[in-house]
Order: sequence, then C-alpha cells, then structure tokens
Amino acid sequence: MPLMMENEVYRASTTAPVNIAVIKYWGKRDAKLNLPTNSSLSVTLSQSDLRTHTTASCSRSFTHDILILNGKEDDVSGHRTQSCFRELRALRKELEDSDSKLPTLSQQSLKIVSSNNFPTAAGLASSAAGFAALVRAIADLYQLPQSPAELSKIARQGSGSACRSLFGGYSAWAMGSAPDGSDSLAYEVAPQSYWPDMRACILVVSAEKKGVSSTSGMQLTVKTSTLFAERVRETVPARMRAMEQAIKEKDFETFAELTMRDSNSFHATCLDTYPPIFYMGDTSRAAVRAVEKINEAAGRTVAAYTFDAGPNAVVYYQEKDEALVAGQFKELLAETQGWETERGQRVQEGGKAEID
Ligand code: DP6
Repeated sequence: MPLMMENEVYRASTTAPVNIAVIKYWGKRDAKLNLPTNSSLSVTLSQSDLRTHTTASCSRSFTHDILILNGKEDDVSGHRTQSCFRELRALRKELEDSDSKLPTLSQQSLKIVSSNNFPTAAGLASSAAGFAALVRAIADLYQLPQSPAELSKIARQGSGSACRSLFGGYSAWAMGSAPDGSDSLAYEVAPQSYWPDMRACILVVSAEKKGVSSTSGMQLTVKTSTLFAERVRETVPARMRAMEQAIKEKDFETFAELTMRDSNSFHATCLDTYPPIFYMGDTSRAAVRAVEKINEAAGRTVAAYTFDAGPNAVVYYQEKDEALVAGQFKELLAETQGWETERGQRVQEGGKAEID
C-alpha cells in the first residue's frame, strides 16, 4: 500500500468560459498585484461554447511543475503562473495544517493540461478563460472551500480579465482600493439565466496575434494618454452604475449604447497613447458602420459592437432580433468599399462561431 500511495495521482478537471468586457479594463495601478485603474464588467459567453478545458493533477512522482497549453509545453516560470501556484498552494497548506489526515498535495509538483475548444481563428484572447480554468482546476484538485469571488483574486494575478471568468453570465470586477488587492475581485451582477436571450457573434477580421499586447498597451496608455484620466475618474464609474442598472432592467438599448460608447472610449485612449496604438482597422470600422446600418434599418438599437485589443468585433444582440442582426452582416460588409467577397464570407463564418 505505501508504494501505491507514493505514486498516487490526484486529478481534477474543469472548464472556464471566455468573457468579453462591455465596460473595459484598461490600465493598472499596481502591475505586480495586477490591480486595475478602473472597475469593469463583462458578459461571459456561454458555458457550452467558447471555453478552456483544464485538468490539474499532482503526484509525488512528478518531478517539477509543468504546463501544457493546446498540446505544447509552456513556460511555468513567469510571475503570473507562479503567483497563482503559490497562492493556491498556500491555501491548500492551511487545510493540511488543520487536518493532518489530508495528503500533502501542497508539496507535490503540478501538471496542468489546458486546451481551448474554440478555433484559434476566432482571434479571441484566451488568457481570461485560461487563467480562470487553471485556478478553478487547482482549487478543485486541492478541495479548497474558497468562494469564486475569493478565487477571482488569484485568477486576477494571472490575467486581469480572468477574474471575471470565474462567474458565468454578467460579471464585474470591482477595482477595490486596498493596496494589497484584497478587495479587487469579481462578483456576479446577474446569472446568464437572468437575461438568457442575450447573444453574441464574433466577426473575425484577423486571426493574427495582436501587435501590441494588452499588458504593455495599457501601461503605455496610463503613462502617456491625457484622455485616460478622464476615462477612469468620471466616465467609467458612471458607466459601471448605468450598466449594472441596464442589466438588472434587461434594458437592451441602454446596454447597447453603453457597450458601444465604452468600446469607443477605450479605443480613443489607445489612439491618445503616445505613440498611438491602433487595434481597430478599416475592417473593424466597416463592422461599426454595419451595426449602425442594422440599427437604423430596425428603427431601434438591436445590435451593439465592442472591440478588445484587436480588430475583431463582438456583436451583442437579443435572440428575438437574430434575423435582423446576424443575417445582415455578410450583405452589409460585402457592400462596403474595400471588402472582398471572400472577406464577407469569413465574416459570416465568424458569425457562425456564435455564442448562445
Ligand atoms: C481590452 O486581462 O489581457 O480585453 O491583466 O495584463 O493580462 P492583463 O490584461 P488582460 O486585458 C484585457 C483588456 C481588454 C478589456 C477587458 O477584458 O476588460
């Protein structure tokens, strides 16, 4: 028996969903603890569609920590991954110290195997779902009693946006004010079931890796943009309140306007960064115009675009307006000058990578 125990492998698997912010996180006040300059809010894309699947295991027979991402060994030595490992091990150690019968998993090496179920072609940043799944899987492996909000503080240190993926549906990240980051965590605004007919489609403009990473881009914005101060002091706090209210009231028109305005404001601060950062391109602007045309034709706001640190658009709409929104893109974008049919086709394929 002791020999068997020696090589015993403990394992837990989980998934975490991709989230797309409608009030954007952009700026760090503490890069080491990954504390943001403003709160943010996102819609978590369906549990059943775009997500990262992660298995965490540990064993005395493992000689070192290892991370395999989409089939390839990745570096575990980075401070983000190390912070997550360290904090989760410390919580496990607390449990072991309080119950001597528990196996000392906190002293064993970890093996993390992670893969995304969405095509790389969707061009989605995977760090949010990735770190959320990593933290959740290790927390499950260690049987930690901490709540998702508590765990979100650890995921935040992996990647800021990851803290919001600990929840499904509509979730926010409160920036907090404590210097140690103890109140900078995610909370649920509403579960997906509260407003279940929300849909999102992704318009794939480019599957290429973004030119300027979020991490370095936002640091340059904080340093050089004068528009940025206004955004974090006035604009975002007011929008956070309005957005939570719009979600509570299931008021799509307000949700949509705030979403589009906040995406515009975020990209304006990118343009105001010196030297400027361009995440949106001509094709992204064509998608903005297409959404405007769709809304004009409907006589009300039925669609809302938002862009992260890249050119791809995510368009939110309600299921009841599906025909007015999703079906219109190919036609509208193919009409736009500079678009080729093939591109229109790709957009429609992107649209099919739909989240519900
Ligand atoms: C534009 O969470 O990728 O998607 O904390 O440095 O890992 P790090 O940044 P990251 O930034 C995401 C920026 C964004 C907006 C958002 O998701 O809120």
